[in-house]
Amino acid sequence: MFGWLPALALVALASSSMAQRDGWKRPIVLDRSGGFPIGGKIIHDPSSTNLTLSCDHGYMEYFIPSRPRKTSLVMWHSSSTQVWQNRWDGGEGYKDLFLRRNYPVYLWDGPRVGRANWSCKPLNYTPNYQDQGNFVAWNFGPSYKNWWNDSQFPTKDDEAWQRATSSRYVEFDTAENVQLQSDAAAVAADSGKLGDNIVYLTNSAGGLRAMMTATKAKENNIKGIVTYESIGYVFPDNANVTAGSGGFGPFVVPLEDFKKLAKVTAIQFVWGDHRPESFESIQQSRYAAQLVNKYGGNAKVLMLGTDAGLKGSSHIPFADMDNAKVAGQLDRFLERNGLDDYVDDDDDEGEWEWVRKSQRKG
Ligand SMILES: *[C@@H]1O[C@H](CO)[C@@H](O)[C@H](O)[C@H]1NC(C)=O
Ligand SMILES: *[C@@H]1O[C@H](CO)[C@@H](O)[C@H](O)[C@H]1NC(C)=O
Ligand SMILES: *[C@@H]1O[C@H](CO)[C@@H](O)[C@H](O)[C@H]1NC(C)=O
Ligand SMILES: *[C@@H]1O[C@H](CO)[C@@H](O)[C@H](O)[C@H]1NC(C)=O
Repeated sequence: MFGWLPALALVALASSSMAQRDGWKRPIVLDRSGGFPIGGKIIHDPSSTNLTLSCDHGYMEYFIPSRPRKTSLVMWHSSSTQVWQNRWDGGEGYKDLFLRRNYPVYLWDGPRVGRANWSCKPLNYTPNYQDQGNFVAWNFGPSYKNWWNDSQFPTKDDEAWQRATSSRYVEFDTAENVQLQSDAAAVAADSGKLGDNIVYLTNSAGGLRAMMTATKAKENNIKGIVTYESIGYVFPDNANVTAGSGGFGPFVVPLEDFKKLAKVTAIQFVWGDHRPESFESIQQSRYAAQLVNKYGGNAKVLMLGTDAGLKGSSHIPFADMDNAKVAGQLDRFLERNGLDDYVDDDDDEGEWEWVRKSQRKG
């Protein structure tokens, strides 16, 4: 019994603002880490049916804290897993920020991106001179190297910019890839390998894929979706929305499938401040949230500027210099929706409840 006390005191201290000011960080203590391919298919060689190719699966890397919370945070990139690993200056990214908070963290490469490279179809790679386009697409400023004055990027650090643009993967922003990635992710969600309390954190085109996954999954394991600057939304077939033909939606699904989004405990569509309200994807996020709520769900739009007072956000706010504050918004979302419990809360209620309460006061 007394053996617990020093450990408890440390855990409580870890989340107090005083400990953070002093630069003390709760260590990351893992029980295990690893990865696995999941989903996909096996195709047969037309000229020799005994020859097969296993392809179009996704790849999931995982990190499980020694004393985990129940919620698995599945980090779904649009450009590369790197954006979840580090802040632009190389500082701590969402992966470590949330491992320190004892959330199991999963890094997902959907079919045909990153480590899920084996495609069932032939593909041509054509180099496309895209660095300057990345700058504007990621909303660091209105034109190349013309940074927003309040930018949360380390604008004086040319190496940081070089790393940002170099870490990008080849992307497949096609309707086919939205289906392939959400098919594989739905298999992963239903497999139980991510636990039964999944919260997707997505960036850009990942948001549409996570929404589609929730409409496809059969088990009830998806508990939350938090999209950062999601481009592309899912709508029910009775909402007078015309489906797009490309990779950025809108996707229109049968009403019964759309209603699965209303069963997700909570959905939050997050936007940085350098976006006008007239931006088409913001309007789509507001309409999608309204429809989810109409069917009994819990979806909200969070404007980092006006709702949270965070300025200078890029398209990838969780990698920005103020990502600790952006993470604070996610803490609130998880706590408010009861998604921050520990696995051992149930069987070890007395002692650990005490820790949680003192953490909250801190
Ligand atoms: C293909 O597999 C079947 C069943 O295992 C086997 O009988 C057959 O000989 C194989 N054919 C070739 C060309 O290897
Ligand atoms: C996988 O890598 C190979 C070799 O670099 C490349 O030719 C192929 O296009 C890649 N596949 C995908 C899906 O990106
Ligand atoms: C930054 O501020 C300067 C001086 O006020 C202004 O001229 C410039 O247009 C601003 N840059 C951006 C990207 O808004
Ligand atoms: C459906 O959308 C079209 C195009 O935006 C609009 O002209 C029409 O009035 C809408 N119909 C209904 C019933 O809302």
